[in-house]
Amino acid sequence: MDVLPDRAARAEFPVGERQLIMKKLIINHDRLKEARDAFARFHFPVVGGVADSGSISLVMGDSRTGKTFGAKSYLGGFPQRPGERGMIYPALLVEMPASGGYRAILENLADAMSIAHTLRMNNSVLTNNILRGLEFHEVELLIFDEVQDVCDIKNPRLASDFKRLMRKILNLEKASIVCIGLPETYGLLSSDKQLVGRGGLQYAFLHPYSWDSDEERKSFRLLCDQFDEGMPFLNKSSLGATATAERLHWVSQGIIGLLKNFLFIAGSLAINDGSIHVDTTHLAQAYDWIKPPQTSFNPFRDDWSKKPDTVVTTAPLTTHDPFAKRKRSAHAQ
Ligand SMILES: Nc1ncnc2c1ncn2[C@@H]1O[C@H](COP(=O)(O)OP(=O)(O)OP(=O)(O)O)[C@@H](O)[C@H]1O
Ligand SMILES: [Mg+2]
Repeated sequence: MDVLPDRAARAEFPVGERQLIMKKLIINHDRLKEARDAFARFHFPVVGGVADSGSISLVMGDSRTGKTFGAKSYLGGFPQRPGERGMIYPALLVEMPASGGYRAILENLADAMSIAHTLRMNNSVLTNNILRGLEFHEVELLIFDEVQDVCDIKNPRLASDFKRLMRKILNLEKASIVCIGLPETYGLLSSDKQLVGRGGLQYAFLHPYSWDSDEERKSFRLLCDQFDEGMPFLNKSSLGATATAERLHWVSQGIIGLLKNFLFIAGSLAINDGSIHVDTTHLAQAYDWIKPPQTSFNPFRDDWSKKPDTVVTTAPLTTHDPFAKRKRSAHAQ
């Protein structure tokens, strides 16, 4: 993880660099630890033991809760290295394609191991090359991201081809698989007895931060404070103070990706203003720019006690429908 220069130095950087600091900020927070711990547990069930093989597990959670970020962070500890016969890829992350069917899944897997493929190669040849490649490159952990896209009940043929491929990989007893997906992925995988039978389908659920318990409030306030610490301003902005954090929780639903987007917008406004920190006017303006058109309440400007009981938000819930609307209960406190 990059070490940030001190506040005063960061605040003096050219605006483009300050913008990039906000964009690239990495926060070492509770949910990231939870995600990394889950990957570690699925990879090495016995601490200090050997990598597991032949088991499938799942990391699921709402969109933007940090699943992919957690996987990449964990994989950073297992870089590829040259072996006697060729490259060794101890752990690989392969994103499932949004389109292109089964062939596109195979091609993404092949690409992850730099296995050449041509259109003249049929699927069964490519599958065999991939299975051989996994052994040859000594892959011990295979992480499939966006699994809900290829296990969709609307496309049963693709789902059954993909599950068959996973069974073939698991049958080699060389690597384990961790799937990443939205919460519905659990149902899509657990209905397959043959898959569940291979390792029991352990799972980890990456929840948004809630505001309903002291412990969660503390964790979310700490998260806000960590963002504050990393922002490129001379002074801190008290983002972790209870009143501000509660409002930040309300606008972000406790989801790190949404919080990061929001603070980026507010921080950009503060840089444009030449401000020494992010203040309430920046937060209020940022919310005006993201709030659903049919709403008027702004938690950074209006009386907090008048907040609506139910919020309709345009926040992305799934990768399929980034503008899906959902109703949720606001903090009923
Ligand atoms: N620990 C972190 N520090 C800083 N930024 C983070 C962290 N975790 C996640 N983010 C940011 O939050 C956003 C969402 O994270 P990520 O892509 O991992 O979510 P996801 O759960 O995979 O979502 P989706 O289901 O939509 O793919 C990304 O922009 C990512 O950079
Ligand atoms: Mg993701």
